[in-house]
Amino acid sequence: MLKLTIDNIPIEVEEGTTILQAARKIGGKIVPPAMCYYSKLSGSGGKCRTCLVKVAVSSAKDPRPIAKLVASCSTPVQDGMVVQNITSKEVLDARKAVVEFLLINHPLDCPVCDQAGECDLQDLSFLHGMDETRTEEDRREFPVIDIGQLIKLHMNRCILCYRCVYVADQITGKRVHGVLYRGDVCEISTYIENVIDNDFSGNVIDVCPVGALTDRTFRFKSRVWFLKPMDAHRNCPKCSGKVTAWMFGKEIYRITGRKDMYGEVEEFICNECRFEKKELNDWVIEGPRKIKRQSVISANHYEKLEIPSIIEPIAGEMINKNADNADLSG
Ligand code: SF4
Ligand code: FES
Repeated sequence: MLKLTIDNIPIEVEEGTTILQAARKIGGKIVPPAMCYYSKLSGSGGKCRTCLVKVAVSSAKDPRPIAKLVASCSTPVQDGMVVQNITSKEVLDARKAVVEFLLINHPLDCPVCDQAGECDLQDLSFLHGMDETRTEEDRREFPVIDIGQLIKLHMNRCILCYRCVYVADQITGKRVHGVLYRGDVCEISTYIENVIDNDFSGNVIDVCPVGALTDRTFRFKSRVWFLKPMDAHRNCPKCSGKVTAWMFGKEIYRITGRKDMYGEVEEFICNECRFEKKELNDWVIEGPRKIKRQSVISANHYEKLEIPSIIEPIAGEMINKNADNADLSG
């Protein structure tokens, strides 16, 4: 086992664990945000830079710091490592810059975007973004593409996290799309239309951290915060049949995979469950789903939420600047 500290909190983990995975074992405010890493998709991570952390001590053998901030999702821990996340102003400044960078080309169309309320970039901007833009250049523009009858691609909103590419590769087993070109002309290939042939293609919607891939059967039906997420299941021959049913009264507006506190689905679900079973009698409703994510979808639901505070170690002490955390519950 390797010993390290993250934001002054000690933890022991197995060799091969990344800093982000170690932080998730501790949990709470010190977990770096992640827009491209997805624990269920191998090879994911290392694309978006939102998870940057500072390594103040590399290891017990080599106590030198790492000169640049590192991506916590793809940096393995070393014995004796000292990591700073929210205890480092440098990290918080870098995160702010990464949000600004991601928004250079991302349209500010949250008011009409179906992902609003459960968008990782929206949440990240809320916590780390600036309230004004410093750019006046035009954003990139792409035509909106229908991927069959069920999924829509808004390439304008894509942050090129590659998650949908990994889903097609690893879950559908039949990848026919990918990221083309480099630099500001980089895009998800339009050949993505063909991915719809597979029973598990709808999972690209659940893994997309922004509103680039949306469910055509749900588009513009409701803002997510007006719906009640309920755990539901059915006997499905293709997947586990365990889903979240998003309900308004007794009507089911949409079906998604059950997401954990990091916005990752617990189990990938099939297209039949997701797109074809929208009647109440298709499902056994288990009860309200606890939304543990810090997001506007938690508003008016079940949890009291806290804004992460900035903790700075001064002379070995932990000073919590925001002792009075704001209560965001509805
Ligand atoms: S479409 Fe969504 S999931 Fe695919 S690369 Fe873009 S942001 Fe990521
Ligand atoms: S989550 Fe680590 S680089 Fe994207």
